[in-house]
Amino acid sequence: MPNRDHWSSSLGFVLAAAGSAIGLGNLWKFPYITYHNDGGAFVLVYLGCILVVGLPIMIAEIMIGRKAQTSPVGAMRSVVGRAWAPVGGLGVLSGFVLLGFYSLVAGWSLRSFVQCLGWSFGGFDPAVDLGADFGAMASNGGLQAFLGLLFMGLTTAVVAGGVKNGIERVARILLPVLFGILAVLLINSFRMSGSGEALRFIFEPDFGRLQGRGILEALGHAFFTLSLGMGAMITYGSYMSKRDSIVKAAGVVVLLDTLIALFATIIMFTVIFSQPGMREQIGKSTAGMLFITLPSLFYTGVPLGNVLAPLFYMLVAFAALTSTVSLLEVVVSYFIDEHGVSRLRASLLCGIAIYGLTILCGISLGSVDGISNFEIFEGKAGLFNTLDHLVANWLLPVGGLLTTLAAGWFIPKAVSRAELLDRDTRFFHYGAWSFFVRFVSPLAVGTILFFVIFKGADFS
Ligand code: PFF
Repeated sequence: MPNRDHWSSSLGFVLAAAGSAIGLGNLWKFPYITYHNDGGAFVLVYLGCILVVGLPIMIAEIMIGRKAQTSPVGAMRSVVGRAWAPVGGLGVLSGFVLLGFYSLVAGWSLRSFVQCLGWSFGGFDPAVDLGADFGAMASNGGLQAFLGLLFMGLTTAVVAGGVKNGIERVARILLPVLFGILAVLLINSFRMSGSGEALRFIFEPDFGRLQGRGILEALGHAFFTLSLGMGAMITYGSYMSKRDSIVKAAGVVVLLDTLIALFATIIMFTVIFSQPGMREQIGKSTAGMLFITLPSLFYTGVPLGNVLAPLFYMLVAFAALTSTVSLLEVVVSYFIDEHGVSRLRASLLCGIAIYGLTILCGISLGSVDGISNFEIFEGKAGLFNTLDHLVANWLLPVGGLLTTLAAGWFIPKAVSRAELLDRDTRFFHYGAWSFFVRFVSPLAVGTILFFVIFKGADFS
């Protein structure tokens, strides 16, 4: 397709794909699940999952996209076979649903940013009940709709700008800033008293404390954090030129994503562990740690907290934006490639439709009764929690399973060989990759689904 927009270089792809991977999963979910799974051993298992399941599937997705040079529906159809087009369709649906509530949490980071700015300039009052304050924010439907609007507006504007001039340009600016802020925070955290304890918690494995559930959670998170199982990497791969190496790019993206998750966790745990009694008090909800406990701690025990707190929430917002952009791009590229809609029109229409879902999720956190209380999955009341459960437990694992089966068993070996062995292959062993996508990944993802279906497990 000569007119297809492409990344300007291999680096352009790496930054955009790393931008997709690095997001709330790294800064919000990973630290939280590491905490609840008792650190060390869980982190090791997670790293194993990233390497033996995440990386091979990442390579497979990029390969399908680059080969097809079209969005996931058409890509699955042309590279794997007609019957596989619905798997691409499932990805588009997952992108739509995930973005519906992801943009809301992303909006909370803007709110925390503004809140911190207020504290930095106006002074922090330790007497405020931050849990109640967060609850009031969550159940304020109007505020939720406004925060969601800000984020969906930004996301839509970037995607409407195009692959090179929108998505890549924003990633080229935001990712280096994000790395810089993280470096400052990390260096600063090593000067704090809790850093030793934080490092021990994260890196000292105690396998006696690891539970089966933790292993599955690590696996599920490997998918989420690498943006796998819903066509995002197929879509970004479809804008990659044949000149660039798939394997090398996938390796760098996976490495960056993993490092950022670990650095963010070190920073957050150091801040928490540096203050007496906080380790035991971390909120029970996912939201708790990042949006309730942490903001105030910056003001009560972190050197230069006044400057670092707003910077930290700016980092969260930037990371979230490059991820929401990739989610919208999956949906938009479907309408462009399959239905011939112009990019501007597709971006606007999809952005508005998804924002409709964001509003519904925003009023399902307590402001409107019916939509906040209904329960389809046990213990998951309201639309927001229902969709979160649906994506993490069903859509991503099913999408991931079908993608890895497609890559391992249904794409002719000659095709995958030609795609993967065309460049610098010093660090790549085709046989090993093939073994992982054919046997290890399907077995691993199949196990997740088994537990979800038959044992009622929950990874959201
Ligand atoms: N990888 C993102 C994160 O860790 O926050 C979430 C995500 C983005 C998942 C894009 C899937 C996706 F297609």
